[in-house]
Amino acid sequence: MPREERPKGDDERPERPISPYHTPGFYAEALARGRHRDIVGGRWEETGLIQMQLLLNAGLEPQHHFLDIGAGSLRLGCRLVPYLQPNHYWATDLSGALLQRGYDLELTDKSRLSPDHLIEDTNFNFPGLPDHITHAMAFAVFTHLPLAHLAHGLKQIRTRFPALEWLMFTVFIAPDDQIAGPFRQPDGVVTHPDRAPWHHRISDVLETARAAGFAPTPLPTELPRGQWLIQAHPLR
Ligand SMILES: C[S@@+](CC[C@H](N)C(=O)[O-])C[C@H]1O[C@@H](n2cnc3c(N)ncnc32)[C@H](O)[C@@H]1O
Repeated sequence: MPREERPKGDDERPERPISPYHTPGFYAEALARGRHRDIVGGRWEETGLIQMQLLLNAGLEPQHHFLDIGAGSLRLGCRLVPYLQPNHYWATDLSGALLQRGYDLELTDKSRLSPDHLIEDTNFNFPGLPDHITHAMAFAVFTHLPLAHLAHGLKQIRTRFPALEWLMFTVFIAPDDQIAGPFRQPDGVVTHPDRAPWHHRISDVLETARAAGFAPTPLPTELPRGQWLIQAHPLR
């Protein structure tokens, strides 16, 4: 039946964006209200420190070339830039304006990072990034995206960065017998199979990573909001 002849009902509702970040006007409105820390989920000090500790425990060194995927307002970047050698940090995000706000307000020594290391990237295409990235992290990014986006993102990362030694990323997992509906994560956030924040089966996440050319290992850590941390080594 042509759309205009159908009775009005559920299918007349505007399509739901895949995440709040994909809602038109989201960044402009939140940034206008000075909310650059809230946009990435708040818990600024705690979460930045946790990410830093994860990277140091995994052996990240100042001479490495690091890519922060979905870096937001540089919650990690403001700690990592002073640790890495100058200009060894790169950041991408769906919103270039959010990256820039983090650079302007959160980065204390701007001489350590050229602003052209902040790259707006809507679909994991990594435009303008160098090939020699050695380590990467996507923290609390795929938690906002469906599995198909994880599959696409991981494939892009695997093919785009031949020198990559490892990638860390986080996801929400639900037990197989509770995958189909809302699931309350250990620290209270409710995740969903069909909208953000998205949860997946651990077997699907690991299979998706393998199909993209990685050997994935879930790491035993307790992360904010009950996220799982996966370390993925490229298969060569
Ligand atoms: C919860 S925040 C985490 C930000 C940062 N990783 C951190 O831990 O502070 C999620 C970030 O993912 C970004 N994002 C969402 N979808 C994205 C996509 N498809 N590509 C790149 N970034 C994306 C958002 O703009 C936001 O900055």
